[in-house]
This record gives sequence, C-alpha cells and structure tokens, in this order.
Amino acid sequence: MDQNPQPTIRATNCETPALDRRAMLSAVAAACAGALVPSHALAATRNMEGLKTKAAARGIVYGAEITVPVLANPSLAKAIAREAAIITPGVEMKWGATEKLRGKADYSDAETLARFAGENRLALRGHAALWYRNIPVWARPLLDGPRGKDILLKRTSDVIGHFRGRVAEWDVVNEAIDPRDGNPTGLRKWPPFAKGDPGYIAEAFHAAKDADPKALLYYNDYGFVYDNPRAADRRKTAIALIENLMNRGAPINGFGVQTHLKVGSVFSPKIFGDFLRIIADYKLRIGITELDVNDSLLPADIAIRDKAVAEHAGRVLGVALAVPAVKSVITWGLTDSFTWLNSKSVRQNNVDARPLPLDRHLARKPLWYAIADAFDNAPHR
Ligand code: XIL
Repeated sequence: MDQNPQPTIRATNCETPALDRRAMLSAVAAACAGALVPSHALAATRNMEGLKTKAAARGIVYGAEITVPVLANPSLAKAIAREAAIITPGVEMKWGATEKLRGKADYSDAETLARFAGENRLALRGHAALWYRNIPVWARPLLDGPRGKDILLKRTSDVIGHFRGRVAEWDVVNEAIDPRDGNPTGLRKWPPFAKGDPGYIAEAFHAAKDADPKALLYYNDYGFVYDNPRAADRRKTAIALIENLMNRGAPINGFGVQTHLKVGSVFSPKIFGDFLRIIADYKLRIGITELDVNDSLLPADIAIRDKAVAEHAGRVLGVALAVPAVKSVITWGLTDSFTWLNSKSVRQNNVDARPLPLDRHLARKPLWYAIADAFDNAPHR
C-alpha cells in the first residue's frame, strides 16, 4: 500500500475530467446531427434536448442512477441515454451483489450496465466500494476480526481494479459518519470504524488510487442539506473527517452530497451554501450524487405534489449550482417507475411516490423543468 503522504491535493482535481469532455462531445454531435434536418424538425429536436445537454452548456455533468431491470424497457433505456451523460448502478456494484460467495466475484450485472454505458457513450460512476450496508453474508462476522481491515481493503481494490480505466469516478466510502453513534470523531460504529479512527478510510483511498489511478475518488454521504440540529452535527463531522483525510494525504478528489430531499424539511440557503463553500475550500470537487424528492408529507393531488417537489428541488439546486465546485448532478433514478422510495412504505395512503424528473410514461414533470432551469441559471464552470 502506498503510504507516501501527499501534502497537497493533486492539480488534476481541478481539471476538466474526461467525462465532461465526453458529455460535451455528445452534445456537439447532437447539434451537428440537427444541422442536417429541416428547421421545424430542428426545433423539435431542441425540445427533446436532454438534461445532459443543458448541464453541459454550463460545464456541469448530469446523470442518473440505473439498475439492470430498467434496461428491460427500451423506451426508458433510450430516455436515459438521451437525458444522462453518466450513469451509476443502484445496486449492481455493491459488495453484496458482486461477491455473494467469497472469492467468486461476479460482475455480470454491473457489466451489463457498463456495456449499456459503452454502447451509448455514457460515463460510469462507481457506487460504492465500501458501504456498511449490502455486505455479503460471509463477510459480516469477519469484519471486526483481526483480518477485517484486510478484507475490506481487498474488496476496495478488487471492485475498483476490475473496472480500472472504465469508471470516471468512484464512491470509495459511502455513509461513513453517524455522530449519533457516539464516536468522538463522529464515524459510524461500523466494525472497521468502531474505534473512530479515520486512518482506515485514508488507507481505503490509497487502495482505490492504486487500483485505478485515473478515477476521481469520492467520499459520499447523506444528511447535509437541511437546517436542523442533526444535519448541523453531520456537516461539522463531515468537514472534520475531510480535514483529517486531507491532513493524512489521502488521495481524495471529491465529496458526494447525496441530496435525498424531502418537501417539508427546513432549508436555509445560507447554511447549505456556506457548507458547500467550506468543502470547496479544500479544493475538492462536489457532486450532487443521489438527488430525489420525498413527497410523502404532501397531499395526494398530483399537480400540487409535482409543483411543490419541483420548487423545493429548484431552490436547493439553485444554491448548490451557484458554487462552482459543484460539478455534477445525478438523480437517483430518472422516472417515477423506478425509485427506491416506492420500496419503503413512505405513504400511509398508498399513493405512489413521484420523486424524479420523468413520470411513469416518461413525460417530463415540473421537476425536470426545475432541474433544467437550475442548469440554465448556473454560472459556467
Ligand atoms: C438504495 C437502492 O436504490 C435500493 O435499490 C437498495 O435496495 C438500497 O439502496 N443511499 C445510497 C444508495 O447511498 O446506495 C441507496 O440505494 C439509497 C440511499
């Protein structure tokens, strides 16, 4: 393992990564294709411009979470290729999916999604090398044993190494903190972090960097957006963790803000904006990595819900995209027909959640237009 500390973050952190260029290229290709068709058709084509095109016009990358069952619906697959410049697997790269049997890695589902990305010239976002959930059954009892750390570092090298050169950015560590667990550092009391020592996370970043030197490496977590004591605690803890990792020379390039929103939660533009600017001061890229909007507190009426969801997300995105370090927006899914929010009983009255930009028939919802407006109004990166 590379133990050489890196006192400062690599200059490449601030460079335009390959995925920005790729997104730009496909936008240019789309525009060129448009030049060959009559003007009324060109106008129609423009109306069909995906979110990725609007984002790319500001140097931002838009993408979406996807799972293998999504590909069974060809119109949906087409919509993803049209809207997104980058995709991230919802479950297929998680450890419980890739190594059900110890030592017998099976990347077939993840490869199905990687192939879809390749065929449609989309970038890939790796999610996630280390996460305290979705751990294979065989590994669970081993993690707090003497070989626990080695097993986790091997998992990190294995999955990132397997996709070496094909993944633009990786969530190396997902959901590392939970200040309520009582560790002085605020690290989650998951066996590997149980003593509250971030040194282990720094090692995971080194393992990731060795496995794929070109991928941008992220720490990704939730619960930073709102104005409440728990979120305030989480913001403080995450900043301290980042400071600690930087001081140790961990090769970290980015911070992922999951951004699972909920209408009804209290949002302070100043608090959230200040938080993002503090992270940006560490010369990290910031990704909005798992955007969706929980509408479970709203009335069942669809028009009312869709409007409130769009307004809420628009406010949050407006604040986020005003910070130039925020380089990407990824929604956790694209259409309301595939959302993790329907897998939980979030609504008492059995109304389906409507957290995403497209509806079940792939029509654009007010949320799509709110995201598009946020891109249009964002300063150029
Ligand atoms: C979710 C997936 O969308 C679900 O399909 C799965 O059952 C559970 O995990 N934060 C994360 C994601 O980082 O990995 C989670 O994804 C959603 C919350």
